[in-house]
Amino acid sequence: MRNHWSGRLGFILAAVGSAVGLGNIWKFPFITGQNGGGAFVLVYLLAILFCGLPILMAEFVIGRHSQRDVVGAFSVLTPKKGVWKLVGWLNLSAAFIILSYYGVVAGWTLDYLYKAVTGAFSSQSSEAIAGMFGALVTNPEKQLFWFSLFMALCLMAVISGVKNGLERWNKVLMPTLFVILFVMAGYALTTSGAKEAFKFMLYPDFSKMSMSGFLEAVGHSFFTLSLAMGAYPMAIRIAFLDTFVAIVAGLAIFPIVFSVGLKPGAGPGLIFKTLPQVFATIPFGSVLAVIFFILMAFAALSSAISLLEVLAAYMIDEKKMNRKAATAIMTVAVYLAGIPSALSYSTLGKVKLLPGKEILDSLDYIASNYMLPLGGLLIAIYVGFVLDKKISKMEITEEGRSSLTIFSIWFFTIRFIAPIAMLVVFLTKIGVIKL
Ligand code: PHE
Repeated sequence: MRNHWSGRLGFILAAVGSAVGLGNIWKFPFITGQNGGGAFVLVYLLAILFCGLPILMAEFVIGRHSQRDVVGAFSVLTPKKGVWKLVGWLNLSAAFIILSYYGVVAGWTLDYLYKAVTGAFSSQSSEAIAGMFGALVTNPEKQLFWFSLFMALCLMAVISGVKNGLERWNKVLMPTLFVILFVMAGYALTTSGAKEAFKFMLYPDFSKMSMSGFLEAVGHSFFTLSLAMGAYPMAIRIAFLDTFVAIVAGLAIFPIVFSVGLKPGAGPGLIFKTLPQVFATIPFGSVLAVIFFILMAFAALSSAISLLEVLAAYMIDEKKMNRKAATAIMTVAVYLAGIPSALSYSTLGKVKLLPGKEILDSLDYIASNYMLPLGGLLIAIYVGFVLDKKISKMEITEEGRSSLTIFSIWFFTIRFIAPIAMLVVFLTKIGVIKL
C-alpha cells in the first residue's frame, strides 16, 4: 500500500513543498538573468497562466481520479488506449533525470549552509564571495561529498513515509522561508543596484530575448510547478504562491547583482555569488545566512522527495515492491546517474552534451525544455480530447461543488490555447516556423 495524504491540508502543504524549491530560488533568477530580464519574466508569467497552470490542473484530474503512479494512471483511465502510457514514461524519465542533477545543486546549498555556520562569508570582499562558487564546483571530492549527503537525506526522509516525513515540517518552514526572502528583498532594494534591478526585471525589452527564451519560459513554468508529478488540488493557489516566491527571490538577487557589478547572465552560480554578499553586510547577517540556507536546503529536500516519491510510486504500484525496497533502489539508481552531473565542472568539465553546455546544464535543458513541455503538450491533448470529459468535469468542479465557469475556461485552454501555444513555441525553436 502506498501512503496517502492525511486530509486536504496535508496534501496542499506537500504540493507547495514540491513546487517551491531550487526552481524558484536558484533557477528562476539565473535564467531570467540569461534571457534579458523583463521580457522573459512577462513570457514566464503568461506561460504559467496559459500552459503550466491548466496542465497542472489536468494532471490533478489524472492523478486524483486514478489514484495511481504516473504510468499506471493511464492504464486505469483509458485501459484500451495503451499508447498513452508512453506519456507516463516520458514524465517518469523526466523525474529521474531532474532528480539526478537536482541533488547536485541541492548539495551546493548544503555546502553554503556549512560555510554560513562556520562564518565563511563574514567580512569577505565581493570578489572573494563570488570566487567561492567556482572553488566549490571545480572540486570533485566536495561535489561528490555534498551530493551523496543530500541523496542520503532524501532516502532517509522517504523511507520513513510521506505522512510523517515532510508534511509537518512544511507548515513551519515554508512560511519562514517566505518571510526571510521578504526581508532579504527589502534589504536588497535599499542597495545602490535597486533601480537598475527594477528596470531589468520589470521592463520588457524583447530585443534582449531570443526564441530560446520562449521555450525556456514554457519549460520553466512546468519545472517550477513540479509537473510530471501526478495529483494536485488547489492548483491555482499553488501556482500563485510558487510564482510569487520566484519573483521575490528575483527582487532579493538582482539589486545585489547590479550593486556589486556582477553580470545578470552569470549562469547557475548567480544566487551563490550574490546572496552571501547580503549576509556579509546586513545586520545579523551571519545568523540570517544560517537560517536562509537551512530553509533553502529544506525546500530542495521537499522537492527532491516529491521526485523520489514519483519514482518509488511507480515501483510500488506497477512492480508491487514494498516502499523501502522501491525507495532504496530508485535512490541508488538516481545517485549513480547523478555522479556525472556532480563532476560537470571538474573532472568532466570538458564534456558538453549540448553545444556549450556542461553535463548538468545540458540535462537541465533537455528535461525542462524538451521532456516536460512535450509531456505537458501530450497531457493537454489527452485530457482535452481522449479522456472522458465527465471525469474532468467531476474532478475540476469537485463533483459539482465549485464553479462551472472555471471548468469551462480551463477546458477551452487545455484543448486549444495551451497546445497551440506550445506547438508554436516548439516549431519556432526547431526552425519549422520562422517568425
Ligand atoms: N518544482 C521544483 C522546484 O521548483 C522542482 C521539481 C520539478 C519538483 C519537477 C518535482 C517535479 O524546485
